[in-house]
Amino acid sequence: MRPNLITIFFTLLCLFSLACNSDTQKPDEKRAETSNKEEEKKDIHSYATPQSVRVKHMEFDWDVLFEQKAIKGSAILHIERIDKTKPLVVDTRGLKIEKVEVSSDGSSFTETKFELGKEDPVLGASLTITLKDDTQQAKVYYSTGENATALQWLDPPQTAGKKYPFLFTQSQSIHARSWIPIQDSPGIRITYKATVRTPKDLLAIMSAKNDHKAERTGTYTFEMNQPIAPYLVALAVGDLVYRPIGERSGVYAEPVIVEKAAKEFEDTEKMIAAAEKLYGKYRWEQYDVLILPPSFPYGGMENPRLTFVSPALVAGDKSLVSVIAHELAHSWSGNLVTNATWRDFWLNEGFTSYVENRIQEEVYGKQRADMEALEGRKRLDDEMAKMEDRDEILHIDLNGRDPEEGSTGVPYEKGSLFLRHLETTFGRESFDKFLKGYFDHYSFKSLTTGEFEEYLTKNLLDTDKAKASQVPVKEWLYKPGVPVSAPKVESDVMKKAEEVATKWAKSDIAAKDLPFDNWSNAERVHFLRSLPKQIERQKLEELDKTYKLTQSENAVLTSDWLIIAVRNNYEPAYPRLEQYLTSMGRRLLIRPIYEELAKTPEGKERAKAIYVKARPTYHPIAVATIDGILK
Ligand code: BES
Ligand code: ZN
Repeated sequence: MRPNLITIFFTLLCLFSLACNSDTQKPDEKRAETSNKEEEKKDIHSYATPQSVRVKHMEFDWDVLFEQKAIKGSAILHIERIDKTKPLVVDTRGLKIEKVEVSSDGSSFTETKFELGKEDPVLGASLTITLKDDTQQAKVYYSTGENATALQWLDPPQTAGKKYPFLFTQSQSIHARSWIPIQDSPGIRITYKATVRTPKDLLAIMSAKNDHKAERTGTYTFEMNQPIAPYLVALAVGDLVYRPIGERSGVYAEPVIVEKAAKEFEDTEKMIAAAEKLYGKYRWEQYDVLILPPSFPYGGMENPRLTFVSPALVAGDKSLVSVIAHELAHSWSGNLVTNATWRDFWLNEGFTSYVENRIQEEVYGKQRADMEALEGRKRLDDEMAKMEDRDEILHIDLNGRDPEEGSTGVPYEKGSLFLRHLETTFGRESFDKFLKGYFDHYSFKSLTTGEFEEYLTKNLLDTDKAKASQVPVKEWLYKPGVPVSAPKVESDVMKKAEEVATKWAKSDIAAKDLPFDNWSNAERVHFLRSLPKQIERQKLEELDKTYKLTQSENAVLTSDWLIIAVRNNYEPAYPRLEQYLTSMGRRLLIRPIYEELAKTPEGKERAKAIYVKARPTYHPIAVATIDGILK
């Protein structure tokens, strides 16, 4: 939605009331505000009651059973008791709880009563554990259920090497509870220790200290000594080997792709250095990247010390490494400073997209950073054109909804544009200083949008009221759309690609005379995205013949090309379409293709036929999305 007079009016009203508010508050107003703040901090996506009993540390002991596709073992929860009269409540989903014990000293345990609540399709079930007066620890014996949403069990054919099975977890947003009985809220922080038993020929690694020289014994131990949010607990098991990239970074991957991956991500050290220069020391000691099998549903996932990425990033030309910059940026925004609830998700992703862009600028220059920023702005506009107002709000209302419904371009791109607005208004130097201070102030803590707003007001807005008046903070945070005063995102290079697209579409220029071969992948993609919706068959053929688009190995470019092919019923690309959709599961890239297919009856039939083969290879997260499109 475009901003209109009404939203402008409300923004002014908000600013006005804010200005008049500060010193004239009555005591009950103050009280109301405090309880509002408590309300804001409450996580509606967790059954846990950390205000009375809070988990601080966990010890896991697991058997990874590939044959049964289950993890079986125990979790010891070390708790802090704030209200001694209250039980310990944790989240679960589909877990089979065998028994629960409690202990006061961590050595002798006695059985206790527990109650598993009713299973909700989104939230799972609460597990309420009765505690004794002196209880300090609770030990849950359990195994995971059949459809544990965080787990993907892969058969050998679904891996790069095709010889060994593979398991990986994806806990964000609320899937940790499907493999661990845990207070599954991003406002919680835990340290952990783990013992993991696997088949002898496989290696297990976690979002923890990993021993790069570990022998394959089938028993692996881990320690994460820095408190992390529960959605960042991660495990992978497979035929994995390690290659260092630099002093404190390296790659885990299956042997057949490890060399190529290490080469692709060789700039990682530079990225770490760039981020440190801007925002202070990297706090997690080691930064490793795990290359997953193709069904990994995301481009990347910022598990601490061990980013998980899609193998599709290994493109051969470093064209997709901005995802590494992004996941690395989460080491500050997200992992160090965490959104308190999923309503505040933009605090994770908006800051991270902003920092990602700054890293890209430091390492690859302003031109590339501008290109990527423009791509982001375009994504935001495209998505917002089809979106309900309520989803365009940064502080999104997720009441009664799955938190993943909030995972759109809005938190990422509107969030980062807001920060860009602050940067351009207050100047880079002041804003960088502010941001570094923010990461320090909130390190190893979580915060709400309201708390951020307060911190921002005190530490940036109040330092220069004239500048502050140019940034409609309330509108950015609490209203749909993008404020009209948002900074323009421009890229000469991308503009050029757009112009060329228009010219080619009008046949003012022949395919062979396009600067395609000299373009970066981002320019090529932008060219494709800038083409008119309908293109003649013979022109598509000309483009395809000249630049071998159907044969492209770049997963992002191919996704865009296949959308064009489907839209224009360009049959020569259909074998590749099927091959693409059955060999890669990154949701961001496959979803728009299925959406395009679903627009016509014939397309939908084609999609369904392909999906019969593809579905068993996809991750539950991708399955849920594609099921929704083809239902
Ligand atoms: N943390 C996200 C992935 C995520 C978000 C998982 C919400 C589950 C729920 C990750 O950092 C991310 O944003 N990945 C993007 C990368 C991109 C924006 C550079 C992706 O996978 O596309
Ligand atoms: Zn992210």
